[in-house]
Amino acid sequence: MNETVDLILKRRSVRNYLPNMLTEEEIKTIVKCGMYAPSAKNRQNWHFTVVTNAEMIEEMNRLALEGMAKLGIGKEEGYHIFYHAPVVIIISSKIEGYSEINAGCVVENMALAAKSMGIGSCIIGETRYMYRQKNKADINRALKIPENYENDISICFGYPAEDEQEPKPRKENIVDYIL
Ligand SMILES: Cc1cc2nc3c(=O)[nH]c(=O)nc-3n(C[C@H](O)[C@H](O)[C@H](O)COP(=O)(O)O)c2cc1C
Repeated sequence: MNETVDLILKRRSVRNYLPNMLTEEEIKTIVKCGMYAPSAKNRQNWHFTVVTNAEMIEEMNRLALEGMAKLGIGKEEGYHIFYHAPVVIIISSKIEGYSEINAGCVVENMALAAKSMGIGSCIIGETRYMYRQKNKADINRALKIPENYENDISICFGYPAEDEQEPKPRKENIVDYIL
């Protein structure tokens, strides 16, 4: 139909990444597209932490897995919440009002921008489990999350190490029209 519609219909979550780091320009473009997401009352009351530090990515993975284990959520051996992606962006906000919807708009903008540049992404909710393992203040300090904010959602990025996957089938009977 047009390039944008095509991109939206073809986007898939990528869970297999090459280790290569994205360029600074690619990261900046993804961040900018996140910033241009809509937000309720245009509050833009969100914060992004861009993590390319491999040790920090590993630490977040460890904390989230331990947090999940505490809740009895088991994962297979070797599971990595970011699938070893080289870039992770943590979206945080004061959890109130429409903050989660705003954050959702951010990550989808970022995912589509990434795809348009040949970069894979996967939205990650599991980072929230970090808070089950370590206290909020320590995590927020380490991740430069502003006071009174907390991690809402995350998204990881990298060059795909696999061929483009077919879109997952969508449920059909979810629309009514009132004509
Ligand atoms: C709010 C949200 C949280 C998600 N959290 C995770 C996650 O923690 N780990 C993961 O592998 N995928 C996660 N996903 C990706 C979904 O599993 C994925 O979008 C869904 O299966 C549809 O597949 P597609 O993105 O390839 O179309 C999340 C998606 C959303 C919207």
